[in-house]
Amino acid sequence: MRTLIAGGTIVTASDTYQADVLIEDEQIVSVGHGLAADTTIDASGKYVIPGGIDVHTHLDMPFGGTVSSDDFFTGHRAAAFGGTTTHIDFAIQPKGATLRETLDMWQAKAKGKAAIDYGFHLAITDLPERVMKEIAQAPEWGVTSLKLFMAYKGALMIDDATLFSALEQAAAHGLLTMVHAENGDAIDILVKQALDAGHTEPKYHALTRPAELEAEATNRAIRLAEVAGAPLYVVHVTNAGAVEAIRLARGRGKPIYGETCVQYFFFTKDDLARPGFEGAKWVCSPPYREKSDQEALWQAVGINDLQVISTDHCPFWYEGGQDGRPAGKELGKGNFAKIPNGCPGIEDRMMVLYTHGVGGGRFSLNRWVELCCTNPAKLFGIYPQKGVIAPGSDADVVVWDPKATHTISAKTHHQRTDYNLYEGMKMTGMPVVVLSRGRALVRDGQWQGEPGAGKFLKRQRFGGKREAAPPKAAAAAGSRKQ
Ligand code: URP
Ligand code: ZN
Ligand code: ZN
Repeated sequence: MRTLIAGGTIVTASDTYQADVLIEDEQIVSVGHGLAADTTIDASGKYVIPGGIDVHTHLDMPFGGTVSSDDFFTGHRAAAFGGTTTHIDFAIQPKGATLRETLDMWQAKAKGKAAIDYGFHLAITDLPERVMKEIAQAPEWGVTSLKLFMAYKGALMIDDATLFSALEQAAAHGLLTMVHAENGDAIDILVKQALDAGHTEPKYHALTRPAELEAEATNRAIRLAEVAGAPLYVVHVTNAGAVEAIRLARGRGKPIYGETCVQYFFFTKDDLARPGFEGAKWVCSPPYREKSDQEALWQAVGINDLQVISTDHCPFWYEGGQDGRPAGKELGKGNFAKIPNGCPGIEDRMMVLYTHGVGGGRFSLNRWVELCCTNPAKLFGIYPQKGVIAPGSDADVVVWDPKATHTISAKTHHQRTDYNLYEGMKMTGMPVVVLSRGRALVRDGQWQGEPGAGKFLKRQRFGGKREAAPPKAAAAAGSRKQ
């Protein structure tokens, strides 16, 4: 079966040009003119871009006494409606479990449900010797990135010794280490002090997790990675101080990368102080900061101090625990520390960034593709299979109508939540055709995908190496432009 996407303007991380895209079965086979096919998708007046890649999501994740509300079907369907065709989720090690058991647990969640292609990062919460040995095996399972949490004391948080050991081992075997960088010990004290003083409202979530504690942990993780000779990827960077730590490390020539998430460009700690309990909708970690931090983030993604924009999609119901819904934000009424941390956004990312990033003159069309598609693929070992429009790549292709408009609303979105952070925001530009390996997932607003059609992606080692490399070599390989 040959499909031609005809008459569109192809946009990659580096180029914008007019050409047709010929797809045969699951792959792009040719890009050019005068190509013949069995069926044609008319893309005139539209952009043709690689499917979005979201490398930071939490589907069906047990957290904060409940579970995130999108599973591997509802989350995938929502992603596709927003032009995202690949994601990498976190398989989070329950204490005492092996990494193999952890991965199997998360594979079972995706089985029969996945509608887009997916991979897993392994999130380590417990690192005895046998788990250290498993890190070396993980690339054979197709997992080439680890995640460690420097926050969430008493739950997911690890100590510096664990982080340092994981960094060394990961670097030795070609894995990229990711960190949630906040100082969990200090936050724990601030939270107790706030509760003791009777401060229970959602806004205290932001006030007990100051930006300095993110900047400190970011710098600490970077310095540990430097000593370990390891590449490092800092997730959900929110503020100027954390950006500065990354910029300085990159200036020293170190393989340090940073991601921010869409929502950090738009909200501040004042959103957590909305009337009543409304602010709980905006509770996530790290929290929303100041207007000046938003500016710092726009600048950072523009000048490549940060390389990726993802979502940290971790949705909870605002009014959960009824009508078959798992418990949600209401768990934290009367105690901000019990509000499940996380916000939805997997569907909104590409549209919000097109409207406000490209449309707002913050970055170019090509940089939008680079931040949302190409850099995630390169850093996480799935390039050029994903993240580019080129012969030989998977036919994950989005036809994007730059003129289509719509208004974001929880009433019409596909995420399994009863609210949307961007409620009422007007979008210009949206996907009209979304293909995953040549199959239509979405066409003109209609769902055409299937649960179970999404495939697990076995990813290459960091830096593209298929074999293990010694730590210093891994670090040197990571210093390429991204
Ligand atoms: O609040 C958040 N971000 N929830 C998801 C877990 C994490 O820290 O990424
Ligand atoms: Zn996190
Ligand atoms: Zn997260």
